[in-house]
Amino acid sequence: MSVKFAIIGGTGVYRQDMLENAETTVLDTPYGQAQATLGTYRGNTVAFMPRHGTGHSIPPHRINYRANLWALKSLGVEQIFATAAVGSLQLDVAPGSLVLVDDFLDWTKQRTQTFFEDGQVVHVDMTDPYCNRLRSHLRNTAHELGLSLHDGGTYVCTDGPRFETRAEIRMYQSLGAAVVGMTTAPEVVLAKELEMCYATVAMVTNYCTGISRQALTVDEVVQTMNENAHQLQRLFFTALETIDAKRDCSCGHAVAGQMPLTGANASEQEGRH
Ligand code: HPA
Repeated sequence: MSVKFAIIGGTGVYRQDMLENAETTVLDTPYGQAQATLGTYRGNTVAFMPRHGTGHSIPPHRINYRANLWALKSLGVEQIFATAAVGSLQLDVAPGSLVLVDDFLDWTKQRTQTFFEDGQVVHVDMTDPYCNRLRSHLRNTAHELGLSLHDGGTYVCTDGPRFETRAEIRMYQSLGAAVVGMTTAPEVVLAKELEMCYATVAMVTNYCTGISRQALTVDEVVQTMNENAHQLQRLFFTALETIDAKRDCSCGHAVAGQMPLTGANASEQEGRH
C-alpha cells in the first residue's frame, strides 16, 4: 500500500479521528523505530504521525526526527502537513492564531540535521524551506473555509525543553521572527533532503516570555491547543480533499541536482585541485 500524504501532529494533536480503517504500525528504519497510524480519508491513504508520541511522551530534544521522516518516506509519502505549537513574538499575532510559516531560524545546537554523512556531501538548498505549492494550497483552503491564517512568518527553533529567557525573546524579536517553537528544525530540513513537500501551520498557544505578563506554563500551551486544534484538523482535511497528487514544485528533486560525493570520488576531486 502506498501512502502519499502525511500529517505530523505536534503538541496537542496526538490522535486522528478523521481517518477510516485506521491502524497503528511501528516502522523500522536505519535510525530506529517510528510509529504512525495509517488510514483512509475520502479515498486517499494518509499517515498520521504524532511527533511527540501518543500522549506526549517524547520531549522536542529527544524526538528521533530522522527515524520519523525516513519512515514516512519508506511508506511512499510525498506531501506532509505539519502542525506545531508556538509562542508568538508579535502582539498582533495573538494566542489562538494560525501562522503559515515561510522561513526559519535554527537556534538548535545538538540535533542531527542531515541524512548525508559518512562520505556523502550534500548541501540542500533552503531558499524556500517550506513547499510553496503546499503553502498556497493551504492558504486557498483557509480562505474558502473562512479561517483566519497569517500568511508567512519566520519560525525560530530552539532546542528546549525549557522556554526562552526574556533576553532571548528580545533578540528573536529584533531579528524579525514571528514565532518560537522547538521542532521545525531539523524536521523541515530532513523532509527536503528526502525530497518530500512539507508545510507547517503553526498554532500560537501563548505570547512568548516577557510579552505576556504572567509566567509561561505548559498548561497554558496545551489548553490553547486543545481549544483550537479542531481548526487545524478542518484545514488539513479539507486541504487533503482537494490536493493534487501530482507535484509541479521543485521539492521532488531538491537533492537530485547534486551529486553526492562519496569518500572515494571526493578525494579524487580534491586531488584535481
Ligand atoms: N516557546 C517555545 N516553544 C513553544 C512556545 C514558546 O513560547 N509555546 C509553544 N511552544
